[in-house]
Amino acid sequence: MDDRTVQSALEESLEGFEALRREAQAVCEKTFGDEVYVRGLIEFSNYCRCSCKYCGLRVENSELKRYRLEKEDILEIMEEGYQEGYRSFVLQSGEDTYYTAEDLGELVRAAKKERDLAITLSIGERPRETYRYLKACGADRFLLKHECADSVIYDELHPHSSFEERLRCLVDLKELGYQTGSGFMIGLPKQSTKTLAKDLKLIEKLQVHMAGIGPFIPNEMTPMGTCEKGSCEMTLKAVAIARLLLPEAMLPVTTSLGVIDGGMREQCLNYGANVVMQKLQPTALRKLYALYPKEIIDGKSMREEKRELEAWLKSVGKKAVFDRGDHPTYQK
Ligand code: 5AD
Repeated sequence: MDDRTVQSALEESLEGFEALRREAQAVCEKTFGDEVYVRGLIEFSNYCRCSCKYCGLRVENSELKRYRLEKEDILEIMEEGYQEGYRSFVLQSGEDTYYTAEDLGELVRAAKKERDLAITLSIGERPRETYRYLKACGADRFLLKHECADSVIYDELHPHSSFEERLRCLVDLKELGYQTGSGFMIGLPKQSTKTLAKDLKLIEKLQVHMAGIGPFIPNEMTPMGTCEKGSCEMTLKAVAIARLLLPEAMLPVTTSLGVIDGGMREQCLNYGANVVMQKLQPTALRKLYALYPKEIIDGKSMREEKRELEAWLKSVGKKAVFDRGDHPTYQK
């Protein structure tokens, strides 16, 4: 599919898109059958040095209460997850330089010691040398969404950095041998089906192993609080096209999609997504990881949440898999 074909596919109505949806679903089933990989997500710090105009964790948001988990706390949550059967963990935070490369390296090494599990880091932009070091410590994967492949829009939304730097990081991560994830938001101001086609062609060009595609949700604690939210339909179409461009990629149902409309999570699995994330940290901390407004249900144990997730996937004809869930081309 070239840029123009991708763009016109994005402009189809959902009815007009149905043939592509079926194709995406078939491609996904061919690679993954009815299996959906579950990742245990630990958002371990909401401190962030960045100024992303859409994100509630931005450094300018002084009203947000900040938290940081120490290595021991993170390991404890991972241990509970491990006991429950999780073998794939995503360690995510704002860009928090409190954690040095050595700190993060120690965390990864301790987590992997005598345990067969996969670690995905999602900690933002760091020097290549840090990425190299963390890979050597045992990190398997890295998530760093490119957010928007139009460099003008990107640079406007990210005054602290640049699209060029973002790409540099993604290329470094791939070269260093990480299973690399990118992704982007749907519904940013000034975005169009033309720029979305660029987003999709970029993940194809980079041959990323994962891509998280989710709608933008306005957050009142940011300068973009009165912007309109992104379209779920457009998100579904973009996920299906991502599946066609990258048949073996890990494509998660993004949390933001479910926040706008719970039913969309199931839809997304019918449009080629094959991964779901389950937060593992205590709910008090989930509330503070406030990228955008969302409802959080209190008082459930990790075990209950896991059972509910399995039951939900079963009810939509899928099988929850808690293995490492490596990309099919990955050699251990
Ligand atoms: N709406 C949707 N997604 C958001 N993110 C941050 N803020 C928002 C928002 N308001 C996503 C971005 C980023 C990750 C930290 O969360 O894609 O990569």
